[in-house]
Amino acid sequence: MNYPNSRLRRLRYNPNIRNLVEDINLKTSDLIYPIFVCEGKNIKEEIKSLPGQYRYSIDNLLILTKELISLNINSVLLFGVSDKKDDSGNIACNHKSIIPKAIKKIKENHNDDILVIADLCNCSYTSHGHCGTIVDGDVDNDLTIETLCKQSIILAESGVDIIAPSDMMDGRTGEIRKELDKNGFHKIPIFPYSVKYASSFYGPFRGAVSNSLNGGDRETHQMSFKNSSEYLREIEQDINEGCDAVIIKPALSYLDIISKVKDRFNIPIIAYNVSGVYSMIKSASKENLIDEIDITMEILYSIKRAGATAIITYNAVEIAKKINKK
Ligand code: PBG
Repeated sequence: MNYPNSRLRRLRYNPNIRNLVEDINLKTSDLIYPIFVCEGKNIKEEIKSLPGQYRYSIDNLLILTKELISLNINSVLLFGVSDKKDDSGNIACNHKSIIPKAIKKIKENHNDDILVIADLCNCSYTSHGHCGTIVDGDVDNDLTIETLCKQSIILAESGVDIIAPSDMMDGRTGEIRKELDKNGFHKIPIFPYSVKYASSFYGPFRGAVSNSLNGGDRETHQMSFKNSSEYLREIEQDINEGCDAVIIKPALSYLDIISKVKDRFNIPIIAYNVSGVYSMIKSASKENLIDEIDITMEILYSIKRAGATAIITYNAVEIAKKINKK
């Protein structure tokens, strides 16, 4: 039916009718807040490349998690910032490592009031900044999986709720699943970054974890954005290996991929609104070119509309405040 019988503006004439017909909803329970945790006491150090985001020592982390719970943000994604590094990231396979200590404290303080997701990779803990063990100038797949499996058990023993491998090694989801099950952790879900593109949008993040990649790039394991169908095999393999949800990263610029995964697979999709998007918006809003929160809200809605179940976002706090006000 066409104009004049159909007038689509009839459903837009006032806020109540607009609200009535809107069908995409962004809730505080959809938000996952990424946090950088470092050693030390009373540290809350602003990250230059991510203005408004901080590295927290564990004591200050607990003040933050309390605030998040009061805002109804009930999921966090933890990243370790470590000065201690070695060739393979084995240094993280230890209960004295920063993330296991942080998880224990969060769980002691908040129990199940907050869901703790640990980003699992070696790149914060390797001296060369790569995601795993280097053999013949490249990240060795199977040796890297061995350290990831060891790190997973330590995380599980510390009380982590969800493990999110972000390394992009082939077969790691299945191997980590086997290792967790063998050690009695069959209840811990794995949310792999199944679809992770080699992206310039991660630039500001690398400053946050003091990772400056000593030569080389991540293109032998992260995906090429010039490839339109490889994501299908990545998702299929992770589902076959027993993952419980999939993470897609970056979200913006890859909404087509989120939407296709939503159509083809019956699995929750977590999308990551990454550091590059956050920092670009911060800069532009500082210049008064755009409104940071309005633009971010629009982006988060687009990610949900594409099919994401939940979103990892550095803006979780401001967005939750805005949602709670309504
Ligand atoms: C670690 C990891 C990265 C990000 C999340 N986990 C960096 C990378 O893979 O190079 C990027 C997140 C962001 O840019 O916000 N492997």
